[in-house]
Amino acid sequence: MKILFVGDIVGKPGRMAVRNLLPRIVARHDIDIVIANCENAAGGLGVTREVVDELYRNDIDVLTSGNHIWDKKGIREFIDDYKTLLRPANYPVGSLGKGSVSINDSSGKALGVINLEGRVFMKPLDCPFRVAEREIERLSSRSDIIIVDMHGEATSEKQAMGWFLDGKVSAVIGTHTHVQTADERILPNGTAYITDVGMTGSMDSVLGVKKDIALERFLTLMPNKFEVAKKNVWLQGVVMDFDGKKGKCLSIERINEKLEK
Ligand SMILES: [Fe+2]
Ligand SMILES: [Fe+2]
Repeated sequence: MKILFVGDIVGKPGRMAVRNLLPRIVARHDIDIVIANCENAAGGLGVTREVVDELYRNDIDVLTSGNHIWDKKGIREFIDDYKTLLRPANYPVGSLGKGSVSINDSSGKALGVINLEGRVFMKPLDCPFRVAEREIERLSSRSDIIIVDMHGEATSEKQAMGWFLDGKVSAVIGTHTHVQTADERILPNGTAYITDVGMTGSMDSVLGVKKDIALERFLTLMPNKFEVAKKNVWLQGVVMDFDGKKGKCLSIERINEKLEK
């Protein structure tokens, strides 16, 4: 089974990159399933129903997210309407939405996806490691392959999760920091790993935000309104191939594709 995981889609430029580049990448790599992180897809913060519908229309199968999933007020009204729109699984009991899902690809193979959020330099959520164990237990009887989106700030916490889940899931993919790391590898027990899969948005920016605005915030510490940057837009992600029976990763390759005007 071949899976494309797309890094955090930032605003309209990120969605343009998805619309224009995704079909070509899917065809070139013969992709079965597309997973993408959508936490910044609407104006850089959160998602709206319209944006979620647009991403599904563009052939994304599962949407993961992270801390920014709650940023648009309307999310409360629609997060439970979508079977494959995830928020991190380690939010407290009583939070809306869900943190994992199991779906089938066109050949009938079952894919589980688990979304987690780190706790280092982030909100004090439930333990992502123990929640990962719980979710794997729940999904493993009905999933041939399990992919984990580990949405975290600290490289240490993401690496630790990779080692913790090596051999227990098929891939641990880091998101949230928006800068693609060059450490993609297959861990000794067959789990694909990358600390950060990257971002789908403007590279002439600070993590997708207009650079002058971000810079002013650093220089003056004055609150200002972030705006999504539009120039030099790239789609970043990884393509992974898995042994459908054992769930082990056969290959992982970074994707970096520029949106040409
Ligand atoms: Fe993000
Ligand atoms: Fe995030």
